[in-house]
Amino acid sequence: MKMFDVWRIREDFPMMKKTMNGKPLIYFDTASTSQKPKIVIDAINRFYEEDYGTVHRAVYEIAAHSTEMYSVVRSKVKRFINAHEEEEIIFTRGTTEAINLVAYSYGRTFLSEGDEIIITEMEHHSNIVPWQLLAEEKGIKLKYIPMSLDGELRMDVYKELLSERTKFVSVGHISNALGTINPIKEIIDLAHSVGAKVMIDGAQAASHLSLDMQELNADFYAFSGHKMYGPTGVGILFGKLPLLEAMPPFMAGGDMIESVTMEKSTFQGPPLKFEAGTPSIASVIGLGAAIDYIESIGREAIDEWQKKLMTYAMGKLEQINGLKVLGAPKERGPIISFTLEDVHSLDLGTLLGLKGVAVRTGHLCAYPTVKRFGINSLARISFGIYNTLEEIDSTIHAIKEGAIILNPINAT
Ligand SMILES: Cc1ncc(COP(=O)(O)O)c(C=O)c1O
Repeated sequence: MKMFDVWRIREDFPMMKKTMNGKPLIYFDTASTSQKPKIVIDAINRFYEEDYGTVHRAVYEIAAHSTEMYSVVRSKVKRFINAHEEEEIIFTRGTTEAINLVAYSYGRTFLSEGDEIIITEMEHHSNIVPWQLLAEEKGIKLKYIPMSLDGELRMDVYKELLSERTKFVSVGHISNALGTINPIKEIIDLAHSVGAKVMIDGAQAASHLSLDMQELNADFYAFSGHKMYGPTGVGILFGKLPLLEAMPPFMAGGDMIESVTMEKSTFQGPPLKFEAGTPSIASVIGLGAAIDYIESIGREAIDEWQKKLMTYAMGKLEQINGLKVLGAPKERGPIISFTLEDVHSLDLGTLLGLKGVAVRTGHLCAYPTVKRFGINSLARISFGIYNTLEEIDSTIHAIKEGAIILNPINAT
């Protein structure tokens, strides 16, 4: 494994030199969106300054070069997640679009009244609402795998929910609210045993878990560039080729057609069939640089550092009076959510912000998860490769101060 030097890594991220409210920025909101290394920013700038042209449409040199650069990223992503074919990699705007694409295209074509879809009680809204819309429209039953208060999926209930009526299962790899790493291999295998197809929402997993589509055997897998040190405006949908080939287009327009007459159009095969319109070319180039960056550090090293941060933070947080960490999953990604007795999380978030600490507060776009714990709002710390143990110490100190300022009874 490669040596990990967080102080060296911080040099790669211009935002790590920022201040917020006059204090050095402590960025603990990587689960919302990660900061970007200079190599990604430079790749995008260089592309606009030196290489910019459209893709797939024109024959002149700049456009051909642009197309080549765009295609190279597709093969990079293929390697990054060990997909079988480049055609299985579709550029989307992000995880949300990727899930909507599958719900819209696969769901509306291959699912029908009386079928059942299973999701879980710990999903991000992006992996709930598209299925709810589909279920309403088609008369499909949507079922939820419940979770324990440890933040673990009830696999015993999942097994009971599965039947020959189950046609689709969609589950988050890592919960954005609790950090739970779900047993997705088992979830996928069980779904396949009743003939259902499976989608995995990998938005929180792609930056630090090694992803191997061959081993996982998921039918669809989605993630976002901006949560893995890449730019906004680009995400990935992996889909098994025969499924993508059978699915109708999601959006229609330029680039995705084979022929258009006034009477009828025919379409390209995947992936272009699902990439209508001029894509986010520069963001795709930036994503390629982000993959290079992650690989240059090594996902094992990233994961190990983030685990160290998490264990350290957990030990310190648990010592704070009245602080309750949500969930106690056996395997947790670099995400810790908590409440502080008699202190509203929005007040705590505002106060931490004034001290330069960026944490996410509220329902985290996972309202059913938060409700499961009988609350409406929480605070979340999430780690990236640039975070340090010292930043955790400062934040713990700030939370303790906040507990007193926001609820003076804690001072006694
Ligand atoms: C688990 C999970 N799924 C889906 C999404 C949606 O990702 P995006 O907004 O990049 O489409 C997020 C974003 O926070 C997430 O954490």
